[in-house]
Amino acid sequence: MSGLDIARTIAELRQQIGLWRKSEESVGLAPTMGALHQGHMALVRAARSECRRVVASIFVNPKQFAPGEDLGSYPRREAADLEMLSAGGVDLVFIPPVDEIYPAQFATVVRVTGLTDALCGAHRPGHFDGVATVVTKLLIQSLPDAAYFGEKDYQQLTVVRRLASDLDIPARIVGVPTVREPDGLALSSRNAYFSPEERRIAPNIARVLRRLAGALAQRPTAVAFELARGIGELQNAGLAVEYLEIRDAETLMPVTDVVTAPSRVFVATRLGRTRLIDNMPIVPAP
Ligand code: PAJ
Repeated sequence: MSGLDIARTIAELRQQIGLWRKSEESVGLAPTMGALHQGHMALVRAARSECRRVVASIFVNPKQFAPGEDLGSYPRREAADLEMLSAGGVDLVFIPPVDEIYPAQFATVVRVTGLTDALCGAHRPGHFDGVATVVTKLLIQSLPDAAYFGEKDYQQLTVVRRLASDLDIPARIVGVPTVREPDGLALSSRNAYFSPEERRIAPNIARVLRRLAGALAQRPTAVAFELARGIGELQNAGLAVEYLEIRDAETLMPVTDVVTAPSRVFVATRLGRTRLIDNMPIVPAP
């Protein structure tokens, strides 16, 4: 695996990035929790296209899992991940142990208010505090020119943009479009949990979102009607709906009546023991 370096401590990470900075090489960061797939690799590709050096991080962040969630069973595949990152042209992988990120006396929480009240924030207590805390640390540890986040987790992307701006972290936050299977299913590390039957049901999420986004682009006044219809379609397909909502693409404020500004449709469902989220843009017809 020539070309790919591994840092397991913050000191090693900073030392390597410091050398690149000295020679005025730009640095892009792609934070992940591992179990990598082509969605993660899209972040790497975006970083490679814009930055001279690319750093990926792999850290299954315990603080963003609520008690009873899948922290213990979250897929861990370090060897396969390193191979993918190496083939993808990543220069440095940061794989810290938990106590490197959260030493025993760790006591700080980064909380983004407002944006985290709704959608996944309302259903996963503490989740976005955990995300905001670890992303802030990763950004400060590596001080990249740009950091790359997927639109798959659109609320997370919005939260990260907010905290980087609010905390004056001098990194450009770049959103990368969602990578999907040919049948529309958004790639996710959690897709590894599916039974064959669940894998057959899962693409209905994207199918319903696409139909709903298309319908509202044509008829922006039909929000309540289309949401009710969408919930019915998801349930008929065998999916338990946690939420299905239209929100403003920038503020994440709810759109309950008429779509005027650029908006997105957001969904969270349960399929067996797997929680799945997805979202798509609604572009009102001119
Ligand atoms: P993880 O779920 O591993 O995702 C890492 C990054 O990959 C996120 O920015 C996510 O939005 C992006 N991603 C995942 N699936 C994608 C897809 N199908 N298409 C495009 N991008 C995709 O999100 C996290 O980890 C964590 O919360 C993290 C930001 C690393 C903080 O712990």
